[in-house]
Amino acid sequence: MAQIQAIKGFADQFPAQSRLFEMMEATAREVFPRYGFGELRTPLMEYTDLFCRGIGTETDVVQKEMYCIPDSKGRSMSLRPEATAGVMRAYIESGVHAREAVSRFFTIGPMFRHERPQKGRMRQFHQINCECLGPKEPEADAEIICMMMEFLGRLGLRNLTLQINSLGCSSCRPVYRRNLHDWLANLDQSKLCEDCRRRMETNPLRVLDCKVPACKELTADAPVILDNECPDCRAHFEAVLRHLDAEKIPYEINHRLVRGLDYYTRTTWEVVSNEIGSQGSVAGGGRYDGLVEQLGGPSVPGIGFACGMERLALLLEGRELPAVSPDFYVAVLDDSCRDAAFALAQSLRREGFSGTLGYESRSMKATMRQAGKSGARYTLIMGTNELASGTVIIKNMESGEQREVPCADVAAGLNAEK
Ligand code: HAM
Repeated sequence: MAQIQAIKGFADQFPAQSRLFEMMEATAREVFPRYGFGELRTPLMEYTDLFCRGIGTETDVVQKEMYCIPDSKGRSMSLRPEATAGVMRAYIESGVHAREAVSRFFTIGPMFRHERPQKGRMRQFHQINCECLGPKEPEADAEIICMMMEFLGRLGLRNLTLQINSLGCSSCRPVYRRNLHDWLANLDQSKLCEDCRRRMETNPLRVLDCKVPACKELTADAPVILDNECPDCRAHFEAVLRHLDAEKIPYEINHRLVRGLDYYTRTTWEVVSNEIGSQGSVAGGGRYDGLVEQLGGPSVPGIGFACGMERLALLLEGRELPAVSPDFYVAVLDDSCRDAAFALAQSLRREGFSGTLGYESRSMKATMRQAGKSGARYTLIMGTNELASGTVIIKNMESGEQREVPCADVAAGLNAEK
């Protein structure tokens, strides 16, 4: 029969990789609550309109990358390509904004984007995502960046670059947008890629982060957004940088960092690694002061970021995680011992030990090979002699020492060996 394969860009995670993911999640769950963040789990699917309005109809994510299916009434639903829009929907719909001045949420889980798969780029990928709603003050920006850097540091990741920029607000950005558009219009259009020629009209800022070398070269002297910002935006950004300096968080200002989603205002950032190939952005985020309102909620500013877990996993690959060796392996030398062996394994698990059972009876040599493969620290050997005398042989797999104990004393025996 023909084999059925996984969908392209969708991956399985076997225990070794799951352990890495669990470690990242545990670190997030340890760090974020110390900054007042609580976990919010939102659905994997939302109405497509939410992402169109939230992320922006002109973005690649909405234009090309969403998995959309109609519901039974023909209304389009989409697998979430990111967490922010869903978190905003939940925040508005629950009315939580009326009850608390500041809300802080983190969300961990799979996201879906129909991109061309390559190393570090999947169609189903996982994000650790944080959002802080309420404060407009620069301390909130600096704090969430510090939290993100603490999280990455706790994972043991050091060679990362924090790139930061400010994208202005609804009063100064349109002016910059016009300036940039006019500047771009004076270039030789035939030298810009097709995407940039289109973006120039729809969202000229996106031209700045085009990866095509010819476009980069042509726009190298483009006007810089920071030079065009209003005094409030400039003061806000300076305060964010001052706090980062005070906390000794190194950063690089990247004038071309505009991010691929439309909701950003003011502070925006990415964390980049040069150790994992072309998909080196391991985290990205920023402020989005108009988003809640744009989605039908009150005028509440917000800020957040997301880390890509597959990309973090690439950086963590080869990292020694504490081995999870089970406590015991019950080896069965004769079929007559199977009931007693099963009962022994269950009683030990009730006592809090971990381990597995050799279901089939085998020769001593074969069973010890199985026991070795299980990685257990102790093999509990049961044969006809032991069954008759109500005992078990405990073999220490590291030292090779073994001793016979009554079945009822195995738990105490294992505890004594620890
Ligand atoms: P983003 O930059 O689109 O931002 O994604 C954040 C991170 O998710 C990226 O830096 C990358 O590590 C990872 N990522 C994105 N696409 C893929 C993919 N196809 N395969 C593997 N990893 C990927 C957002 O999603 C925003 N919602 C972040 C945010 C939260 N901004 C404010 N709040």
